[in-house]
Amino acid sequence: MNLCYHNDGEKLMFSRSILKLKRQRLNRVIRDRSSRQGSRIFIEGRELINFASNDYLGLASHPEVVEAARASLGEFGFGSGASRLLGGGSIPHLMLEDKVARFKGTDAALVLNSGYAANTGIIPAIAGEGDVLFSDELNHASIIDACRLSKSEKIVYRHADVDHLSELMKKKKGKRLIVVSDTVFSMDGDIAPLTKIYDLCSSSRSGSRAANQVILYLDDAHGTGVLGNGRGALAHFGIAPDPWIIQMGTFSKALGSFGAFVAGSKNTIEWIVNTARSFIFSTAIPASAAAAAGKAVEIVTSSPDLIRRLWNNRDVLITALKKKGYDTGVSETPIIPLKMKSVKEALGLARHLEDKGIYAPAIRPPTVKTPRVRITVTAEHTEADITALVKALADYS
Ligand SMILES: Cc1ncc(COP(=O)(O)O)c(C=O)c1O
Repeated sequence: MNLCYHNDGEKLMFSRSILKLKRQRLNRVIRDRSSRQGSRIFIEGRELINFASNDYLGLASHPEVVEAARASLGEFGFGSGASRLLGGGSIPHLMLEDKVARFKGTDAALVLNSGYAANTGIIPAIAGEGDVLFSDELNHASIIDACRLSKSEKIVYRHADVDHLSELMKKKKGKRLIVVSDTVFSMDGDIAPLTKIYDLCSSSRSGSRAANQVILYLDDAHGTGVLGNGRGALAHFGIAPDPWIIQMGTFSKALGSFGAFVAGSKNTIEWIVNTARSFIFSTAIPASAAAAAGKAVEIVTSSPDLIRRLWNNRDVLITALKKKGYDTGVSETPIIPLKMKSVKEALGLARHLEDKGIYAPAIRPPTVKTPRVRITVTAEHTEADITALVKALADYS
């Protein structure tokens, strides 16, 4: 690549910063596949068993999902040409929203360009000046950035600590409170205590004169397609999708596609259409991506065996890891962190695994506080894949 710098000082500044990152072993490197996404991938000419993707159900390369995209390409072409409000949308977008609303049990839904765009667009749109945002300390980076963009007051509560959240909410009587949480935490694989959070929000909404207006905003990126027979975290906990709950999720993980959605009341969706800047000022996702996501929603709804396979694989792997004495933290889902004492150890383990034909990169600060190798097991893995991972781990000393 031929980079042109107008200013030598700037060039020097980045060189030093990059060198510093490298010395700390914190530099990030892109490694691209020469194959489809799946449980087996090719990187740099080598076949690896892939324990790094969020394609939990193997839908990214599912023939019906691929065919839905292909058929849509023939009809709608590729690029969507404009933002949704300027004619960039198409019938597949509309059909997808209808499917998502039924899937999530809400009156309406809206397609957005990515999970990152959904959070950074919606959160500032629903939490403005005079409001108070409460965010779990381990929420995804896109929520952290969304909080930075919001003009509301922001308060971070201790991870999954509903007593702490309650204490903090009590100090803000009479204000509009917006509680934001991941449903499944993407680096630890634990599930938010949603029944308690729901009860807390519900009780601060009702009753006394000092009742608050409360909105519960859930990022169900890793719950959709995984929890609640695929319908996500609310279904998992048996919580009704009340109009004061806003469910965001992505098509990019278990649904094997691209883009994101928000599901809620008609008013909520209308407000987001009118105020979420990442929706208003960005080109719509291609119709083919919407068609693929729509097919994936249909598959999830009609294939309980796929989800069963995912959970069975998860149980087999976690049982084997625990038997070998690995610290898998608080994981309750197919996301399983193997926490390490140092960046060096995490990188060493990832390198060892790759030597043994297994792809599971290290996750380091600042993404997480404690370095780790993050394993994600999917419905596509075979028993032999899981055995190979456990054996490769056992060989590491
Ligand atoms: C919890 C959570 N929210 C949002 C996102 C962003 O989604 P996307 O990759 O579609 O931008 C991710 C993905 O990494 C995530 O893990």
